[in-house]
Amino acid sequence: MIIAIDGPAGSGKSTTARLLAKKLDFIYLDTGAMYRAVTLFFLDNKIDLTNSDEVSSALNKINLKIENRSSSFNVFVQNTNVNNLIRDELINKNVSNVSEIYSVRKKMVEIQREFSSNKDIVIEGRDIGSHVFPNADYKFYIEADINVRASRRMKDLSNANKSLDDMCKLLLERDKIDSNRNISPLIKPKDAYVVDTTSLSIEEQVIKLFNIITNN
Ligand code: DC
Repeated sequence: MIIAIDGPAGSGKSTTARLLAKKLDFIYLDTGAMYRAVTLFFLDNKIDLTNSDEVSSALNKINLKIENRSSSFNVFVQNTNVNNLIRDELINKNVSNVSEIYSVRKKMVEIQREFSSNKDIVIEGRDIGSHVFPNADYKFYIEADINVRASRRMKDLSNANKSLDDMCKLLLERDKIDSNRNISPLIKPKDAYVVDTTSLSIEEQVIKLFNIITNN
């Protein structure tokens, strides 16, 4: 069974997806982590994003592995676990630009489809219900008020040296790029359950999705 969860940054989708997978005893796949890992690799190798030859040769060189083991999700680049490196400010700033590139998306979607085949899986991202798995068994679109999203992100980043206002601006900028790009932008799939988490606790978010799945 495939459960697709999409939504903007800070909407609560990652935490909800991870805990929902645990509750259902499903595998969990964080596709944002994959785009982040590619961004790290491109930054480390100083890839010029406007040079398609450089981008495609970097994509041929990257050895990106994803692994789900006892409810922890791990991403490896060239056999190094990069979980702790892909959440920093520089990656946040660049990831939307990297994930706009067609060849990057094509490669990520191939890996996602292959990883998910014949699995019970909760998979979260921006284009999962709309593009990667248009026939998913359940589709959810998670959203929340921008101020709530920004303050959640501030809590996630222990060393965020930003004001709430700056964080709002950064998230809105990422939303703009993610929602307006030409290839599989962030959209609300027509057949998705829309869940607004503005005033929900994490437990309430998880239960809400769990109840929809188990009652339908
Ligand atoms: O969910 P996140 O913040 O870790 O995602 C990081 C970026 O990756 C996000 O700004 C857009 C991109 N992304 C994407 O384009 N498609 C996905 N399926 C998942 C993430």
